[in-house]
Amino acid sequence: MKIAIIGATGGTGKKAVERALELGHEVIAVARRPEVIPSAERLTVRKGDVFDAASIAKAIVGAEVVISCVGPPSNVTPGSFRKGFTNVKAGMNVMAANFSPGTVMSEGIPNMIAACQQAGVKRIVMQSGINLTDGKELTVFNRFAVRIMRRIFWRAIKDKAFAEDAVRQSNLEWIIVRPSVLSYAEANGKYTAGPAARIAPLRPLPFENCADSLVRAAASEPTWVGKIVNVGR
Ligand SMILES: NC(=O)c1ccc[n+]([C@@H]2O[C@H](COP(=O)([O-])OP(=O)(O)OC[C@H]3O[C@@H](n4cnc5c(N)ncnc54)[C@H](OP(=O)(O)O)[C@@H]3O)[C@@H](O)[C@H]2O)c1
Repeated sequence: MKIAIIGATGGTGKKAVERALELGHEVIAVARRPEVIPSAERLTVRKGDVFDAASIAKAIVGAEVVISCVGPPSNVTPGSFRKGFTNVKAGMNVMAANFSPGTVMSEGIPNMIAACQQAGVKRIVMQSGINLTDGKELTVFNRFAVRIMRRIFWRAIKDKAFAEDAVRQSNLEWIIVRPSVLSYAEANGKYTAGPAARIAPLRPLPFENCADSLVRAAASEPTWVGKIVNVGR
């Protein structure tokens, strides 16, 4: 399959490119800074900024499916959360990004949808976040945790909610993936993913696992189409 991955320089995006190539797909990595992406077999790198719909439409030509890994800068660096939430500096950086998320999702995702329509791409997979859930599928404790997170990070949630609505209302085959908090911890392959899956929102999930779920959504999980998929542990 030919998969375009937008946000290919990010924590998840990089891993999604690696995973898709590992599985034998052809990949178009789309980024604002294409020069930082190392070349590889079956990989095409193209420049695109989600605030510029025309640049995205041009970049995704030839793709069958688009995966969005874009987001406001998370400032999650290798080593963050290795010891849970004891890395205060990393935690503060992540919170700062969430307090002023900008409009990369609410403007960028509708632009991506328009670009898909222009380029004839039929399917979009959007990486969102578990804090968008109303929590009904979670344990009582985790439902409460999500409620608190939603109150604290309301700006980031508002921006993503607008983007999720645009995806749901589009005429594309869509899948929204909502991961728990992510980390650079080594993946051991064990994670849970599925519509209304009961995950722990605050239990860090390796970027690699999240990337794997996005590539599955793009290429090998037809029952996820038109659904919101939780990913975590
Ligand atoms: N990290 C977490 O714990 C976590 C948990 C749940 C959900 N999420 C969500 O999942 C998504 C990805 O998270 P992440 O941690 O992998 O993000 P990240 O490492 O911060 O990467 C964000 C990516 O978006 C790209 N980007 C930002 N603005 C762009 C623009 N205007 N045009 C094109 N690309 C742009 C960045 O490109 P540059 O390299 O050029 O800046 C980067 O590649 C985000 O929506 C995030 O909110 C994250």
